[in-house]
Amino acid sequence: MKVVYDLTNLRQTIATWKLEGASIALVPTMGNLHAGHLSILDHAREIAERTVVSIFVNPIQFGQGGDYERYPSTLEEDSKKLTARGLDLLFAPNLTQLYPEGTDIDTRVTVPELSSILCGKFRPGHFSGVATVVTKLLVNVQPDVALFGEKDYQQLLVIRRMVRELCIPVEIVGLPIMREADGLAMSSRNSYLDAEERNQAPLIFKTLVAAAERLHGNPGDIPAVEAEGLQVLTAAGFKPEYFCVRRSQDLGEPHVEDRQLSILVAAWLGSARLIDNIKLDLKEA
Ligand code: PAJ
Repeated sequence: MKVVYDLTNLRQTIATWKLEGASIALVPTMGNLHAGHLSILDHAREIAERTVVSIFVNPIQFGQGGDYERYPSTLEEDSKKLTARGLDLLFAPNLTQLYPEGTDIDTRVTVPELSSILCGKFRPGHFSGVATVVTKLLVNVQPDVALFGEKDYQQLLVIRRMVRELCIPVEIVGLPIMREADGLAMSSRNSYLDAEERNQAPLIFKTLVAAAERLHGNPGDIPAVEAEGLQVLTAAGFKPEYFCVRRSQDLGEPHVEDRQLSILVAAWLGSARLIDNIKLDLKEA
């Protein structure tokens, strides 16, 4: 596996591949790789001739309060995992490569509306941070396809919309959530959970499944399902930020005729902010 740390070397490698006519996939990550990340990488390798994984903990998508500083950085272990998986290229830039002018008054990409609901309401600036760094990666890698996980479902929709509206010629592929055996969505932030919290954490997915089952039988129950989801998690010691049923397509409030819904949740458990979601097709009801 080739590892590059700067944009010049990245662009040179990409230019060689383009000359060869190879198709290129990009998998952006913040490292601390788990099976969720690796499943995306495996899919990328199936659909493209060359795959680039980026590892960059992007400061501008973190809020105040130390989450950026404590985000786990495990570059050495990550590169072993990627080598074992047969990755072509790891791009691991430092801060000045991607933010040459710093991060105080630099240019940002913002996707309106979608960025200010759900997670965006509780993490102001977060999706602008994501959109900005993903734009930089897309512009430099110029991939045919970029792959993202549905675990961060709102992020996936923000990126789809950004790519469409900025006319960036890339296909965006979303891939299913990888879970632990007990249903907990895999996440780098799961390492913040102590043993007791780790036992509690699968309740998030259980609550989503119960909500989806109830809505299958009674699609009109959305407000009750949302209230119950919040109540169940709060009673179990979580601090939920939201538990919402939305249209899968654009995360808008569902209308009676909508059939493709998503139930999305964000909740704190101890010092970990956990997110998860589940899809619901009322056509199958
Ligand atoms: P990170 O949290 O490292 O996630 C990288 C990619 O892995 C994202 O597309 C995310 O949705 C996906 N992913 C994470 N956990 C997953 C799981 N359990 N199952 C399936 N996919 C999963 O998301 C980011 O980094 C950043 O915001 C980034 C897009 C790299 C921009 O900085």
